[in-house]
Parts: sequence; structure tokens; C-alpha cells
Amino acid sequence: MTQLNKQWLLKQRPVGMVSPDNFELVQSPMPSPDLDAGQVLIKTLMLGFDPAMRGWLEDVRSYLPPVAIGEPMRASGVGQVIASRNAALPEGALVQGLLNWQAYSIGDPAGMIPPRILPEGVTPGIALSVFGTTSLTAYFGLLDVGQPKSGDTVLVSGAAGATGSVVAQIARLKGCRVIGIAGGAEKCAWLTDTCKLDGVIDYKSENIDARLTELCPDDVDVFFDNVGGDTLEAGISHMADFGRIVLCGAISQYNEETPQPGPNNLMILVARRIRMQGFIVIDYLDRAEEAFADLANWVMGGDIAWREDIQEGFENIPATLQRLFDGRNQGKQMLKLADPQ
Ligand SMILES: NC(=O)c1ccc[n+]([C@@H]2O[C@H](COP(=O)([O-])OP(=O)(O)OC[C@H]3O[C@@H](n4cnc5c(N)ncnc54)[C@H](OP(=O)(O)O)[C@@H]3O)[C@@H](O)[C@H]2O)c1
Repeated sequence: MTQLNKQWLLKQRPVGMVSPDNFELVQSPMPSPDLDAGQVLIKTLMLGFDPAMRGWLEDVRSYLPPVAIGEPMRASGVGQVIASRNAALPEGALVQGLLNWQAYSIGDPAGMIPPRILPEGVTPGIALSVFGTTSLTAYFGLLDVGQPKSGDTVLVSGAAGATGSVVAQIARLKGCRVIGIAGGAEKCAWLTDTCKLDGVIDYKSENIDARLTELCPDDVDVFFDNVGGDTLEAGISHMADFGRIVLCGAISQYNEETPQPGPNNLMILVARRIRMQGFIVIDYLDRAEEAFADLANWVMGGDIAWREDIQEGFENIPATLQRLFDGRNQGKQMLKLADPQ
């Protein structure tokens, strides 16, 4: 019997909240076994989910082209090489790259993000979580863009998530006082008890502005914002002179049908001489080894905690993306399709 590939294709662009109805599950022919030199055939083992995937569904100019209607949804993942014409990526090797929402794909060294071999002993879950793109984002966004100094007060929104929790802990390791904003008592307790933050704000039950007045009497030196909207506005009001705001993302806005008005207090940036800067982790990929060296030391020393939220089942892929937008994910959102052979 001919073996088939399974794919989730983009059926229609979402308006408002992304939903499984925006995608279509199809069976398609396996990628061609006639690989070109350098190419590998990859079986997907684990997929990673990123809020940015919602942005890739919009037909607008961005740092990557939009996913086209009828294309497999773009996604990072870890897979196993099952056929190879690349000596550096032999059969059986575990690789990380853009594998998309499909059971099999062709990995090409000339692709947008070429497949990269996993170091010995690194599991798919670890590769996509604490050694994944979210940790690179945390590392370079905080240290390069935010430039924290020992003794600074660092505020992190989305603090219990894959990116935010690593930002908060790196800031703590750099000698900063760290305040996190997250949704719900369980996530806040994890941030104080396990990640050892100095203070937390549960934005679902507390007023962010009032709590920042209590927790940050000397204001905030670095604000690493993952959320945007009202959270960004509240953070701006509590910035210290010459503070830095790192615009990492704005997850509260990604599913809005119409763009929301921006923060109404931007003149504070002028009066307090604040630098507010966006960044995209892709620009730092050629420096990834710097981050991996530090992350490996921190992980081996037990200095960084992380959580892996692993769903299962090919049919559950689109529904798993939604978990990021209602906060059901506890740590890095992933979905397992198969174990390595
Ligand atoms: N600039 C870059 O290169 C780059 C790279 C990677 C990620 N990012 C950004 O980093 C942020 C975090 O991404 P991640 O992959 O680490 O995801 P994550 O934080 O692990 O998961 C998303 C979290 O966002 C929170 N959230 C969802 N909707 C929200 C809302 N309306 N208001 C407030 N919080 C909301 C939820 O936490 P609660 O339960 O606490 O609400 C949810 O768990 C996103 O903004 C993403 O776009 C940027």
C-alpha cells in the first residue's frame, strides 16, 4: 500500500480568534523520495507552537511571508531523518527546524531555517522548550535589547510562559529584582515558589497599575513586554528615567478583529528618556551558540526552571494552537506525534 503524508493546510485566513475551522486536514502523497543533494526526508516527532503563528496567517508585510492559502501551516518542530543525501544529517539523526503541520517533510540546507542536528542527549521536548527559540528570544531580547544591570528592577509580562519565564530567571541570575505579570494563582505561585521571582501580579484578579505602585516604588528599569495593550500602557506609567522597554510581542492583540488604539501615555517616553525597541529573534540566530552555552550552564546548575506542556494527536494540532491564546498552556506548548526510533 502506498504510504501517505498527513497535512493541516490553511483553508481560510482567520478573522478574530484563530480556530480549527481555518485549517483543513488532508492526506497527500509522501514528499518525493528522489532527494536532491543536501536534502533529507524528515518524520515529524514533536511540533512547537508559537503565538507568532497567528501573525503568519495575516496577509500583511512582516519579517516572514504569510502562509499561503492551501499551504501546510508553518511550524517549528523536531523530527527524525529517515532518508538522507546529506552527510551532516545522517539517517536516524534528530533534527530541529521548520517542519510545518505535516507528518513528513523535506529538509533543505538552503531553506529559510535549515534543519539543525540536536546535540547528543537532548530530547525533542528540551530542544523545543528550554533550548528552543523562546529561550533564544528571552536571552537576546533581555540582554541585548533590555541591557539590564545588577540591581535593576525588571518587569516581565507573560511571565509564566515559555519566553517570559526564562527572561525573568535570566534577569534574576543577573542580579536584578524581578516582578512578573501572569494569569491565575497557579502560574503566579510557580513564578514565586519555583522561579524565585521577587513579586508577581495576577492580572486576572489584580489591578496591574495599583500593584506596580506597591511592588515597584522606585519604578521599573527594564520592562520586557510580551502582552501589549493595557499591560504595556500600565508598564509605561511605571518606568524609571532612562528605562528600556523591550517589545517582544503583544499577545493580547493578535486575535483582535480591528487594531486597538495604542498606549495613551507615550509622552512618558519623552519625559523620562525611555528607549522602547522591538526585536525579532531570527536576527540573532547566528549568535545562538552564545546563548546555548549560558543556558546549558544554568540548566545543568539547576538555576533555570521550565515547563513542557505536551499535547498529543495529529487531529489536535489546530486546537493546540488555541491553548496559547486562552492561557491553558503551562510552559512551552508542544504536541507529540511519535517517539524517536
Ligand atoms: N520577538 C520575537 O522574536 C519573539 C519570539 C518568540 C515569542 N515572541 C512573543 O513572546 C510572547 C510569548 O510567546 P511564548 O511562545 O513564550 O508563549 P507563552 O508565553 O508560553 O504562551 C502564551 C501566554 O500568553 C498569555 N496570554 C494569552 N492571551 C493573553 C491576553 N489576552 N492577555 C495577556 N496574556 C495573554 C497566556 O499566559 P497567562 O495565562 O499568563 O495569561 C499564555 O500562556 C508572545 O507575545 C510572542 O509573540 C516574540
